[in-house]
Amino acid sequence: MSATLYEATTSAPVNIACIKYWGKRDTKLILPTNSSLSVTLDQDLLRSTTTSRADPFFMKDRLWLNGKEEEIKDGGRMDNCIKEMKRLRKALVEDKEPNAPKLSEMKLHIVSFNTVPTAAGLASSASGFAALTTSLASLFALPLNPSELSLIARRGSGSACRSLFGGYVAWEMGTKPDGTDSLAIEVAPQSHWPEMRAVVCVVSGEKKDVGSSVGMQLTVETSPLLQHRIKHVVPARMESISKAIKARDFDAFAKLTMADSNQFHAVALDTTPPIFYMNDVSRNLIALVEEYNRVCLQKTGHLGAAYTFDAGPNAVIYTLPDHIKAITELVLYFFPASAVGFYDVLNIFPEAGGKPTGKLVDGFNEEKVKKWDVGAVKGVIHCKVGDGPKILGKEDSLMTAEGTPK
Ligand code: DP6
Repeated sequence: MSATLYEATTSAPVNIACIKYWGKRDTKLILPTNSSLSVTLDQDLLRSTTTSRADPFFMKDRLWLNGKEEEIKDGGRMDNCIKEMKRLRKALVEDKEPNAPKLSEMKLHIVSFNTVPTAAGLASSASGFAALTTSLASLFALPLNPSELSLIARRGSGSACRSLFGGYVAWEMGTKPDGTDSLAIEVAPQSHWPEMRAVVCVVSGEKKDVGSSVGMQLTVETSPLLQHRIKHVVPARMESISKAIKARDFDAFAKLTMADSNQFHAVALDTTPPIFYMNDVSRNLIALVEEYNRVCLQKTGHLGAAYTFDAGPNAVIYTLPDHIKAITELVLYFFPASAVGFYDVLNIFPEAGGKPTGKLVDGFNEEKVKKWDVGAVKGVIHCKVGDGPKILGKEDSLMTAEGTPK
């Protein structure tokens, strides 16, 4: 081990898209066929934390994910990110300051943990690559802003570029073939609309058989509906949802979010062979939100919640504080929790005032949603819109003195 410790630890958030990224025009550079927009979730329950260390005595670049060593494949996504960060260290720091330590020439050890409830099956690649990029940027003291860093996180996983910011984030698809304008920008910070809540419903289901990367390219190759979506639907929706966020207009935000989730699943179905990410539980969660919104519209003239689904059966329900309790009560009524193995839902109720009562919203038509057996929804995780990546202190290091996971 060298005398000076060159190490940095950072954490990065999960983001859930309202306007979905689905399709690449360049699979190597990870350039999308349309722009997308997401909300960054707070890091209380869901986050990735990464420690990176450079040391002249390390023999090769090594990576541990959740305690297990993973191979860094030559020319793979991880390798591309690491190489790009080393190149930037050399160009932006070492070539300019002759005394700067030559970290770009040293091998790296990287230890990363995802704080996502284990059985949740929530994607962690976005927070993971955002945490990797920010920890290397901090280790290498790179003078780059989050949009510039998002270019590198994007090479790890497209949606990761949006986790470089907190709040409300757009990934602008860009037009350049080299991808230098395909980056994330902040549409509004967390503080602009801090009331936004996300109720993540973890749905039981087999592991998805078609991963996002493979699935989206099958869609690009075979779906005529995707072409219509790219050209005629997403550009207008990106504008409208940005406006809705700026105006804190939940009705418009909710309509666009639900419509875009549904169109994303429609292009998956329009793929040959068709891809099904939602299951019957997912569809019943849609029915629940639709019926809740019908009641809300009737009572107040406004929508109360918006569902969205990524490439799997889990629902994320965006809502506002006034509706949190009602939504969670409804989910727990139709999809009962088991006493064991259910994620702690109590983090929802302190702010909403107490424990679930099992009482339904007045006027809610129970016929619209099937009542499921215990465990159809395995857990409910309550998040707020949150901040971007955080640089942590030495005490948060995930590494032993030898450079292996603690
Ligand atoms: C449905 O970012 O996981 O969640 O770029 O191939 O790593 P790769 O794909 P990934 O795809 C995410 C797709 C999505 C929609 C979204 O997050 O915008």
